[in-house]
Amino acid sequence: MLQFGSIRLDMPFVQAALSGYTDHPMRILARRFGCPLVFTGVMLDRIALHPKASRQKQFYPFSEEEHPVAAQIMGNEPEVMAQSAAIFERAGYDIIDLNFACPVPKVLRRERGGYLMQKPAVVREAYLRTRESVKCPVFLKIRIGFDSSEASQEDFWTICENAFRDGVLMVAIHGRTVEQKYKGAADWERIAEVKRRFPGLCVFGSGDVLKAQTAVERLESSGVDGVIVARGAIGNPWIFPEIRALWEGRAVPEPPTIEEQRAVMLEHLRMILDFWPARKAIPYFRKFAAGYCRRHPQRKQVMMAMMKAKSLEQIQQVFAEFYP
Ligand SMILES: Cc1cc2nc3c(=O)[nH]c(=O)nc-3n(C[C@H](O)[C@H](O)[C@H](O)COP(=O)(O)O)c2cc1C
Repeated sequence: MLQFGSIRLDMPFVQAALSGYTDHPMRILARRFGCPLVFTGVMLDRIALHPKASRQKQFYPFSEEEHPVAAQIMGNEPEVMAQSAAIFERAGYDIIDLNFACPVPKVLRRERGGYLMQKPAVVREAYLRTRESVKCPVFLKIRIGFDSSEASQEDFWTICENAFRDGVLMVAIHGRTVEQKYKGAADWERIAEVKRRFPGLCVFGSGDVLKAQTAVERLESSGVDGVIVARGAIGNPWIFPEIRALWEGRAVPEPPTIEEQRAVMLEHLRMILDFWPARKAIPYFRKFAAGYCRRHPQRKQVMMAMMKAKSLEQIQQVFAEFYP
């Protein structure tokens, strides 16, 4: 059993931070389906320091069933990251996760996220200051380097070594470089190497975990402490009970029936409609629908119908036709 402070995980598989996806509704569903820990999408540290912060969506009180939930923040000044972490902790988040992995060009230009894979001293300072400013656990999310250069590899190993020496409670490693963004296969061998070099460091691996079986295989073959489910969980909360069954050595549950799929999708849609104005809710729901459709026997037709649906009425028609 993994334990971080007072937070216990009853299985070593968690839902990733996914910007634009892991808001309130996706987090709640993951928790209901047995995922032991969920993360927000990455948030800029400064939003917490803004005078209007308490009115922003990120600060909405979340339902009890979402706990434990980690707030992921990124910035470029350790002191600001630390101050913002304290505000997120006060807002009720259980864990602070510092992002040094985001590859978005605008983020890199502002020397945040993945840019800092080239600045091990800043990563360390951000961690130490944040740890001083909060009582809750502080995690790191990194990549296997900024790019494939030797200098980058050195920085990567310095970051890992510092994390180990400073007693970071968990380091999540996405097995691609920042430069790679999401291209190519994730390098799980490099992730495994971190665990071999620093057996005392709690390492979670991330990358290309699209099926339950892959999650369990990665855990076993790489020797990591935990595995992160990212794109594989979009429109697919069933992946968590499937992973749990495989991990516990039980048979994988039967795939969800059309009725079960409909119930979960409608619940997801309802939560999105509670959270977002209708104008934004429908395009937002369609992003998840693309994932949900994969479970439908007429996957292509449902996908096309969902993508064409522009209003709530049209979405409801798709449900009536394909999820009777
Ligand atoms: C649309 C999208 C948004 C993401 N947003 C975040 C984020 O906010 N924070 C983060 O640490 N990683 C983010 N990631 C990276 C994922 O958490 C994960 O590390 C990566 O997708 C590799 O896992 P996968 O190949 O199994 O999807 C994002 C990935 C995608 C595809």
